Amino acid sequence: MSETNLPVNEKFIFNKQDSSGEKLHEEREKSIKNPQDYWAEKAEAIDWFKKWDKVLDDSNEPFYKWFAGGILNISHNTLDRHITTQRKNKLAYIWEGEMGEIKTYTYYQLYREVNKLSKIFKNYGLKKGDRVAVYLPVIPELPITLLATARIGGIHTVIFSGFSAEALADRINDCGAKVLVTADGSFRRGKIVQIKKNADRALEKTPTIEKVIVVKRTCQEIDMKEGRDVWYTDALVAAGGNAYVPPEPMQATDPLFILYTSGTTGKPKGVQHGIGGYSVWAHWTLKWGFNPVDEDIWWCTADIGWITGHTYNVYAPLSLGITSLLFEGTPDFPAKDRWWEMIERHGVTILYTTPTAVRMFMKFGEEWINKHDISTLRILGTVGEPINPEAWKWYFKVIGKEKMPIIDTWWQTETGGFMIAPLAGIDLVPLKPGSATYPLPSIQAEVYDDKGQPVTAGNKGFLVIKSPWPGMLQTLWKDPERFKQTYFGRWENLYYTGDYAVKDKDGYFWLLGRADEVLKVAGHRLGTVEIESALVSHPSVSEAAVMGKEDAVKGEVPVAFIVLRSGFEPSDELRTQLIKHVRTTIGPIATPDEVIIVNKLPKTRSGKIVRRILRAILVSAEIGDMSTLEDASAVDEIKTIYAEIKKKSPK
Ligand code: WTA
Repeated sequence: MSETNLPVNEKFIFNKQDSSGEKLHEEREKSIKNPQDYWAEKAEAIDWFKKWDKVLDDSNEPFYKWFAGGILNISHNTLDRHITTQRKNKLAYIWEGEMGEIKTYTYYQLYREVNKLSKIFKNYGLKKGDRVAVYLPVIPELPITLLATARIGGIHTVIFSGFSAEALADRINDCGAKVLVTADGSFRRGKIVQIKKNADRALEKTPTIEKVIVVKRTCQEIDMKEGRDVWYTDALVAAGGNAYVPPEPMQATDPLFILYTSGTTGKPKGVQHGIGGYSVWAHWTLKWGFNPVDEDIWWCTADIGWITGHTYNVYAPLSLGITSLLFEGTPDFPAKDRWWEMIERHGVTILYTTPTAVRMFMKFGEEWINKHDISTLRILGTVGEPINPEAWKWYFKVIGKEKMPIIDTWWQTETGGFMIAPLAGIDLVPLKPGSATYPLPSIQAEVYDDKGQPVTAGNKGFLVIKSPWPGMLQTLWKDPERFKQTYFGRWENLYYTGDYAVKDKDGYFWLLGRADEVLKVAGHRLGTVEIESALVSHPSVSEAAVMGKEDAVKGEVPVAFIVLRSGFEPSDELRTQLIKHVRTTIGPIATPDEVIIVNKLPKTRSGKIVRRILRAILVSAEIGDMSTLEDASAVDEIKTIYAEIKKKSPK
C-alpha cells in the first residue's frame, strides 16, 4: 500500500490560526538533541525521595535504565502528594457499576483505602519485589489493589477478568505470585460471570499462591477455602480504620508491574515496566495528548486488564490529580445509549475509546446519541487499532460536532504510553482522518523496508523506534533473551514494533496494523499461535492455522482452518464444540468467527503452512505463486469448502 490509498490531503484544523506544528517540532528537536536535560526537567513534575544519579544509563543496551539511582514511590505520586493540597477532597474516581450504582472516591478516601489494603499485604508478609496477581472486573478495588501493591514495593500483574482459568493459572505460575485478589463474581450484560470458580480452578495448579482476597461484588454463594481465602471487607476491617503504611522507597529501576501480552509464539510475554521511567512517561503523555485540567471528567473506556487501563485509568490521571470515570459494564447494556446517558449524567469532558466502539455506535445509529446532551465533551481520543477514515469522520462529526480534535494515539503494551499522537497539550497540528500525526517528543519513529533501510515517503514498511524513551518496557519477565530477540533482534539497537506504517509526504504517520502473527480483535491483542495451540489441545484436532479476517465493526476476527485427527468427522456440532473449547481455554474474546474443517492445509515441501494462501482464500483474492507447495490440490479443496460455507451463511 502507498499513500495514494490514504486521504493524505484531507486536513482538519480546529484550534488557533498558528497550528503549523512549529511549537511541536521545536519541542521534539529539543528533546532529541539533549534527552538527558530534557527528561531531567520533565521528571521534576513528580516527587522523588532522592533524585537520580543519571537520567539515562545506556551502558548495557538494550537494557536501558531510566533515572538510575533515583528513589520514589508511585503511590506517593498518585495519592500522598495530592492530599496535602486542595485536591484532598477532589474526586479521584466516579465509578458506575453495570446495574447503574454509583460510587465515588475522593483522593483522600482512595488514599485511606489503599493504606488499609497495604497494611493487609504487609500482614501477609508481602515484601518488596513480591508479585500480586489481580483478577477483577472494573470495580474500585482494582485500582486500589494496584496502588496498594505499588505502595509496599510489590509487583502487580493484572489478568483481564475475561480470561479463562487456564490463562490465569499460566500467568500466575510464570510470575510466581503469592497473593491473588479476585471477586465472588462479575456482571456481564445483567448475568453473573463465575470468576471465583475460574480462579478456584486455576488455584488447583498454582502452588505459589498463599492467600486469596475476595471482593464481594455479586453476593452469590461461593466456596471460600479455609485459611486461604478471605473476604476483602473482613480484611480491611481487620486492618483498622486508621491504617497507615509509609510508601516503600523504591529504586526508579525496580519493576512496577508485569502485564502479559500476546506475541508470535504460544506463550504470552510478561512485559515488565519499571517505576521511574513509566511514572514520568504516563504523566507527560496524558498531559501532552489531552491536556486535562482540574475541571475535566476524563473517561478512558478501557478495562484495567489491558495496558490502556493501567496507564490511562490509574497511573496517569491520578498522577495529574484529575477526576476519572470508571465503568464496569458494556456500551449497549441495558440499551444502546448507555454511554451517552453516562456522559450526560457525569458531565464527561474527554472521551478516550477504541475504533471498534466508534464503528459499533455508527451501526447503532445517531438516534441513540441525539437522545442525550453530550455538550460537555471537549476532546475525543482513540486507541488500540487503526481507525478507518470513515469512522474517524463520523466520530468527528456526530460525537464531536466538528468542534473538537480526535486524538488518535498509537502505542503498545511495551511502550507504556502514547508514542505517536496529536498533542493538544503542546501544539495541535492539522489533523488528517486516520493518521495519528507525529511522534511525541523524544520518539524517533521511522518506517523501514525488510532490509532495514528507510522507505521513501508515502510507502508502506515496518515501524521502528530509533532511540530509547522513558516509558519503554525494561525487559520480559525472567526472559531477557526473548526481550532482546523480539524487540531488538531484527535490527540491532532499533526497537521493532511489529506494525506496518506509512509516513506521508508531510511526515504524518499512518498506522496500518500488525505485520506479524498478532491480531487486534475489537482492540484486544491476541496471538494466532495461542488460538492454534488451544485448538490442537482438543482431542479431535491434528493441525490448525488461525488468521485474522476483516470485520466491519471489530476490525478483525479470528478464523481457524483445521485438520481433524483420523476417526473424527466434520460436523456442525464439532465446530461448535471447538469454538467453545477456545472460549474456555483462552476466553470469550478469542472466539473464532469460523472454524473451517479441511482435509489438508497448504504446505511447502518442508512442511510450513503457507498462510498467505489461506488469507487469499478468505478474501477471495488471487492466490499467486503456488510452485513451492507440496500438494497444490489442497488449495482447490479449501476454496470449495469455504465457498460452500459462505453460501450457507453469507457474511
Ligand atoms: C495497535 C494497546 C493503529 C498496533 C495500546 C499496536 C494501533 C497494538 C493504535 C498494540 C492506533 C494501538 N492506530 N494501531 N492508534 N493503537 N494499535 O499492546 O497494532 O494491546 O502494535 O496496546 O495495537 O496493542 P496493545
